[in-house]
Amino acid sequence: MHISHLSLTNYRNYSRLTIDLPPGPVLLRGDNANGKTNLLEAIYFLSTTRSVHARTDQQLINWLILRQEPLPFARLEATVQARPEPFKIAITVIRENGNFRKDIRLNGAKKRAMDIIGKLKTVMFLPEDIELVTGSPGVRRRYLDSTLCQINPDYCAALSHYNKVLTQRNALLKELFKRGGKSDQLIYWDEQLAQYGAVLVVQRHNAVLELDAVARQRHREVSGGLEGLRLHYAPSFDPHQRPQPNYQLPLLGDELARYSTAAPPLKEVRRTFLAYLEKARPEEINRGVTLVGPHRDDLHFLVDGIDMTLYGSRGQQRTAALSTKLAEVSLMQQSTGETPVLLLDDVMSELDADRRRHIIDIVDQAGQAVLTTTDWEDFAPDFRARAQLFEVSTGRLQQIQHQD
Ligand SMILES: Nc1ncnc2c1ncn2[C@@H]1O[C@H](COP(=O)(O)OP(=O)(O)O)[C@@H](O)[C@H]1O
Ligand SMILES: [Mg+2]
Repeated sequence: MHISHLSLTNYRNYSRLTIDLPPGPVLLRGDNANGKTNLLEAIYFLSTTRSVHARTDQQLINWLILRQEPLPFARLEATVQARPEPFKIAITVIRENGNFRKDIRLNGAKKRAMDIIGKLKTVMFLPEDIELVTGSPGVRRRYLDSTLCQINPDYCAALSHYNKVLTQRNALLKELFKRGGKSDQLIYWDEQLAQYGAVLVVQRHNAVLELDAVARQRHREVSGGLEGLRLHYAPSFDPHQRPQPNYQLPLLGDELARYSTAAPPLKEVRRTFLAYLEKARPEEINRGVTLVGPHRDDLHFLVDGIDMTLYGSRGQQRTAALSTKLAEVSLMQQSTGETPVLLLDDVMSELDADRRRHIIDIVDQAGQAVLTTTDWEDFAPDFRARAQLFEVSTGRLQQIQHQD
């Protein structure tokens, strides 16, 4: 798929931008603080209804408009060329009665966020992707969630239900801890939690298996065949009810393979989840919080059996994260039949020549890729010759001809 038209109104430092975009690579160059990241963020927002950078939707509205207008808003719109037919997505962030809300439209018809997430498919590459490996388990869960939400609307719905149930269940656990009472009130919430949680566990399980297969291959290419990468999904309870491997120590060959098996059927995972909840109940009441479930999952990146989060060098961590992101592009393609739009925000400057080549390979295979840089020299002349070039300057884009 590709975005053929983008229009931004009162969005960040873009008061008004309307622009036609071609398929293939689109390269934006600009000095710092001119709006390159803002533009990629806008596309990502249209794809996921979330920003990777803003903490609140309010930050997306141009701040002068926010000061001056009684009813300030920011509008983002894209026309997307896709199979079976093109569509238009529009999101307006509006301030109303002191609150900010989103008005979301698909071809003019009002929609919920859940209904449009992943209509426009994107994979974003950022210099801070290394945090996928170095960061906390929460970073990795968010990564799985945002990838799977784009791939499968059912996942997104289950996630939203799961989080609501979890909040309710935690409130009840706190109540039981403080005031006592019958713990059989939990049974209803346990069943809800297990119903939605099982969907998350099964889909995360299978997605990580697919990511693992492709990331392993990409990693071999990127590292020159020297290292073997494995991705392990580490659910907070194992649906196969096996003892968990100790990631503090190097894992051996058969251990690596043993934990790379498909998830059991949904029903079975649900039953297992319930059994774990029952076992954990006394401790959960003691601590007033839900201790098992996908909100406590993790993901491990193993190079030759060694956990990169714990022991990787910066270079190894960066390569593992890059291989995983490259695999995400294939995962999205395989499971939806659509090629996502790639968004690469200033990633070239961080990479050596070899890794750049792998990025360019995947950019060339994509239906469209929007890349930003501060320096044309980060890209080879032959790439610049086949890309559409724009200069970004204080919220304006100017198309420019190929430069040697
Ligand atoms: N809500 C906003 N209203 C107006 N300008 C904004 C808003 N949010 C960010 N900006 C401007 O956008 C600039 C950053 O743009 P960015 O896309 O990050 O630049 P870069 O080209 O370096 O990627 C900031 O310096 C700021 O001036
Ligand atoms: Mg930037």
